[in-house]
Amino acid sequence: MKAAIYIFTGSGNTERIAKRFADEFHASGVETDIYVWEKDKQIPNPSDYDIIGLGFPIHGFNPPKVFIEMVKTFPNAFNKPTFMFKVGGEPLWLNNSAGQKVYRILNKKGYNILTDKLFVMPYNMIFRHNDRMAKQMWIYAKALVKANAQDILAGKSEKVKLPLIKRIHSFFFRIEWGFYKLNGKFFKIKKDKCIDCGKCIKICPAKNISVKDGKIKFGGNCIMCTRCSFNCPANAINIGLLNKWKVNGSYNLDKLINDETVKFPFIDDNTKGGYKLYKNYYKNLDKFLSEHNIALTEQNYND
Ligand SMILES: Cc1cc2nc3c(=O)[nH]c(=O)nc-3n(C[C@H](O)[C@H](O)[C@H](O)COP(=O)(O)O)c2cc1C
Ligand code: SF4
Ligand code: SF4
Repeated sequence: MKAAIYIFTGSGNTERIAKRFADEFHASGVETDIYVWEKDKQIPNPSDYDIIGLGFPIHGFNPPKVFIEMVKTFPNAFNKPTFMFKVGGEPLWLNNSAGQKVYRILNKKGYNILTDKLFVMPYNMIFRHNDRMAKQMWIYAKALVKANAQDILAGKSEKVKLPLIKRIHSFFFRIEWGFYKLNGKFFKIKKDKCIDCGKCIKICPAKNISVKDGKIKFGGNCIMCTRCSFNCPANAINIGLLNKWKVNGSYNLDKLINDETVKFPFIDDNTKGGYKLYKNYYKNLDKFLSEHNIALTEQNYND
């Protein structure tokens, strides 16, 4: 058996999760190819695989537009086992419908969508999650992959709910796609900070950054993934109207997991303030993991 996981990623969280799925599948004898979307990169044919996965970061309660365009090119399939996952920075209920457009396209083409999970991972926009929160997110995400992979391989399906109100809401927020493109034109390099390493040009998945007359220029195809600004080693990129919400620099998740001075868990019954928002998400996850007999301790997930 062979699986393919098709993803988009800006700051790497979706790819981290895809790699965990690949590891879990490999342990059960299913080899997995991961395809990361990039402009003009050839898309492997889903017909060549037995299981299909699709993962994307949530941008304005939706997938990136390029992700939907990719899914539209998929051939019809007869009942092919398929799983979806979306990666956001918060567990707001509005995120639950982020996959609806992808779901509907695939459903029409005959894919058998088994699950559609929400993974909460550190923000690459809005604010920087603190180390304890980031550690908790990664430990739980790994455990959720394990439980979800068990279900997928067993062909277990859960009802994917898409209430009308959420669908309308996601549809409304697709207006942000146009905004991202426009905002990309306002990206600027802070010349006094830039060390001319060329990394942003190399890593932009939309090939939207180039050099003209010796200067770095941003084109009109930005998808607001933050890969350039998040990874710039000199924090030299101004991201236009969203600059106040910029997050720069890796979270070093694997290092955090091994750091005993960063206490786990962070969210519990006594959590107060803004992080209260995450309580129910983790309560529900605890229940889901215990139903799968997956013990969740720092030691179990420090590999
Ligand atoms: C333009 C933009 C819009 C975002 N909108 C949402 C959102 O609606 N809901 C959410 O939970 N997270 C949102 N996020 C946060 C990302 O989904 C989150 O950081 C995710 O882990 C990024 O995954 P990646 O590293 O694979 O790109 C947004 C991020 C960006 C850059
Ligand atoms: S990644 Fe940052 S430092 Fe490197 S060239 Fe781009 S803007 Fe300059
Ligand atoms: S310019 Fe930056 S934010 Fe826009 S698509 Fe390229 S890497 Fe992503």
